[in-house]
Amino acid sequence: MTDITFREPLVDDADSIWNLIKNNKPLDENSKYLYILLCHEFSNTCVLAESTSKIVGFASTFVSPKNPDTLFVWQVAVDKNYRNKGIAQDLVSQSLRRVGPSIRYVHATVTPSNTASLKFLQNFAKELNAPLSTCSLFTKSVLGKDHEQEDLVRIGPIPKQVKEVIA
Ligand SMILES: CC(C)(COP(=O)(O)OP(=O)(O)OC[C@H]1O[C@@H](n2cnc3c(N)ncnc32)[C@H](O)[C@@H]1OP(=O)(O)O)[C@@H](O)C(=O)NCCC(=O)NCCS
Repeated sequence: MTDITFREPLVDDADSIWNLIKNNKPLDENSKYLYILLCHEFSNTCVLAESTSKIVGFASTFVSPKNPDTLFVWQVAVDKNYRNKGIAQDLVSQSLRRVGPSIRYVHATVTPSNTASLKFLQNFAKELNAPLSTCSLFTKSVLGKDHEQEDLVRIGPIPKQVKEVIA
């Protein structure tokens, strides 16, 4: 898409990001403070998508503190009017590009009913020419009965040649 631009979020974007999250179920809302912290402390791995200065997408990702070769994708939201154009995939690609060639794996959690989320990750794995596997991660006994289980999606290892192209 030609009119979409990507950039690091600023603290002043936190309110708009929080609203985007609240308007894109089934994402958990969290507090506004959390999005301020993301924009302050994790701005180098979080990415905004804008169309004519309007925030239309957001991805929060971070390098796993336990596994420094793994980029963990937390929340991804794309405004309803901009979906199915590859923006979610582009958001995570931008983040991967920023963290550089040390990353070999991309992890994310998906609820089994969220087919769009799984599909964009499958497309992303294909683009990276990397295998994708899923396993159970957080069950209802951890999340509570009102929250669907979260399965872990593992993409990787990312082939060396692909890392050289995206870095
Ligand atoms: C999940 C989400 C981020 C995807 O954003 P997006 O920019 O539309 O994603 P992409 O365009 O990169 O890919 C979406 C893919 O899912 C497919 N898809 C969309 N809805 C689908 C459905 N109901 N069933 C099956 N596939 C579906 C699209 O066709 C597309 O695949 P294709 O390109 O092969 O045709 C967006 O739908 C969203 O914000 N949802 C609400 C919040 C959420 O659930 N976030 C994910 C959990 S963190």
